[in-house]
This record gives sequence, C-alpha cells and structure tokens, in this order.
Amino acid sequence: EWTMENFIEEQVASIREKVGGGKVLCALSGGVDSSVAAVLVHRAVGEQLTCVYVDHGFMRLNESERIIKTFRDELGMNLIFVEASERFLKKIAGVSDPETKRKSIGNEFIYVFEEEAAKLGQVDFLVQGTLYPDVIESGTSTAETIKTHHNVGGLPEDMKFQLIEPLRTLFKDEVRELGLQLGLPEDVVWRQPFPGPGLAIRCLGAVTKESLDILRHADDIVFQEIKKSGLYRQIWQSFVVLPTTVKSVGVMGDGRTYAYPAVLRAVTSDDAMTADWARLPYELLERISNRIVNEVQGINRVVYDITSKPPGTIEWE
Ligand code: XMP
Repeated sequence: EWTMENFIEEQVASIREKVGGGKVLCALSGGVDSSVAAVLVHRAVGEQLTCVYVDHGFMRLNESERIIKTFRDELGMNLIFVEASERFLKKIAGVSDPETKRKSIGNEFIYVFEEEAAKLGQVDFLVQGTLYPDVIESGTSTAETIKTHHNVGGLPEDMKFQLIEPLRTLFKDEVRELGLQLGLPEDVVWRQPFPGPGLAIRCLGAVTKESLDILRHADDIVFQEIKKSGLYRQIWQSFVVLPTTVKSVGVMGDGRTYAYPAVLRAVTSDDAMTADWARLPYELLERISNRIVNEVQGINRVVYDITSKPPGTIEWE
C-alpha cells in the first residue's frame, strides 16, 4: 500500500544503503523541491549531508536569513552559507541582454558551488530535487529553449558524483505533503516558485545594487499584501518587475517626481507551461499600489501586467 509514511521509510532505507559511509552534498535554493529532498536525505544520513546555499544577492528580502534559521537552527542541518553578492553583481555589471545575464549567473553559480564542494574534500553523492514531471520532460523534450533555466537540472556534468534523487516519482502536491510530514515549516512548503537567477531577471536592463534594493523593497510589499489577502496559495506567482530603462513623471505632495514604474505580475497556473493573469480584487491592487508608491523611494507608478502565457511568459526576461 502506498502511504507517505511507507514512502519515507523506504526512501530512508534505500538512501542509507546507497550512501553507506559516504559524504553527501546538496545545493539548497530555498525552494520547495531542494528543501524537501535535503530534509529527506538528512533524515536518512544526518551529519553525512552538507547543504550549500549560495546567496547571489538576487534573493528576496530576508530570504537568506530565513533559510539559515530554518535549516541550520531549527532542523540542525550542516549548512554552508556562501555570501557571494558582490561577485555576482560584478559578473553581470553592465549586462542588459536577458540570456547573457541568465547564462553568466548560471555559470557563476556553478563555479561558486564547485569551489565550496572542493573545500569539503571527497564528496560521493549529490542530492537533486528532481520531480516526476522533470523526469518526463527531460526524457522527451524536443522543444527549443525559450529561456535558459538554471537550477532546474543544471549542475555540471563533469562533477564526479552519484546522484540521489529521492523525489523522482512524486508530483508537486505530494512533495508538499512529504515536506510537511518531515517537519518543514508551512512557509517553505507553500512557497511560490522563484527563478534561479532571482531578482536579476526582474530588474530589466543592467542590474545595479540600487535598482535591486528598490525592487526588493517593492517585492516585499507585494509578498506581504498577497499573504495578508489570503490569496498567496491560490496564486502561482506574484511579484514585481522593475523596468530600469523607463522613468515617468508623477506628482507627490507639491513636488514633481521622475522615477521608475513598478510592474506587478500575478498569475494563476498549474505547471507554469501556461498561465493566466490573476484577477486580483481592486482593493488589493489599490493597497499594493498605494503602499509601493508611498513607501518605496524610486518608484512613482504601479502598472498591472494583464498578459497571459502564451503569448507572454511569466517572467519578463
Ligand atoms: P517563464 O518566464 O518561462 O517561466 O514563463 C516559467 C516558470 O519558470 C520559472 N523560471 C525559472 N526557474 N530557474 C528556475 O528554477 C530559472 O532560471 C527560471 N526562469 C524562470 C518562472 O519563475 C516560472 O515559474
């Protein structure tokens, strides 16, 4: 009989058998899949697992602190935290082409990860949060790449690890249930998807520390308000895009402003292959708009993206 308890028991046993006394590494992103995979493997081999979390500086507000608190402090896992924001920012300085930006970040991520792995000495196994739909997709996909995704399947092929993919037979909803049973907090298990290159691909054009800070602040307001509205779980993704090449005139108090617009993007979806723009209540849109314009220095206008996918994509870059 298939039950979650049996699944956990079987996986723990088979991971233990496979790993033996070996050393296991996991690239933790803070997303649901890698988090659940890491916790499951931790249950099986404990201290033999080391997680590496790379902060590329394109994370949401307080995200890194949250990850350290959850995995290191609450779950007691070995977690190496790599603060690499300067390095990544330098790498993409002046880069405005979306694909170049994505590739630079993806490559840099691999370098940083490899450096950390090398410091650990002999590592035998690598954990990946591959789900059943990823398995099917990568097996049959002939579709051309519309955007280069990193973090999906993307670690270097020449790394001499054996893979541990304990979620290979599961769908997303099962992964969530598994995460809850393994003691992961609800806010990790129900986190909306977040792209590997993070806020860098939502800061349109060349990314600077200043524009990232503006975007991060506006994004956090959206996160808070969507949470407060009770719609967070129903919405596939909700976030802000900052077109840094656009400025418009506004008026505040008795002064003229000339600042960036914020693009609000919220979509419903089942699998991100298609998506529909979310029909958010007007009152919520109003609250988000007011708060962003009043609280975020550098933004004086909020627009709502009402494009579905296709023809739009969810992200803007
Ligand atoms: P698009 O913009 O292509 O995005 O409609 C589809 C889904 O994929 C997410 N996304 C990424 N996820 N690494 C990821 O792990 C990436 O590089 C990446 N780029 C886009 C996006 O947020 C959406 O959920």
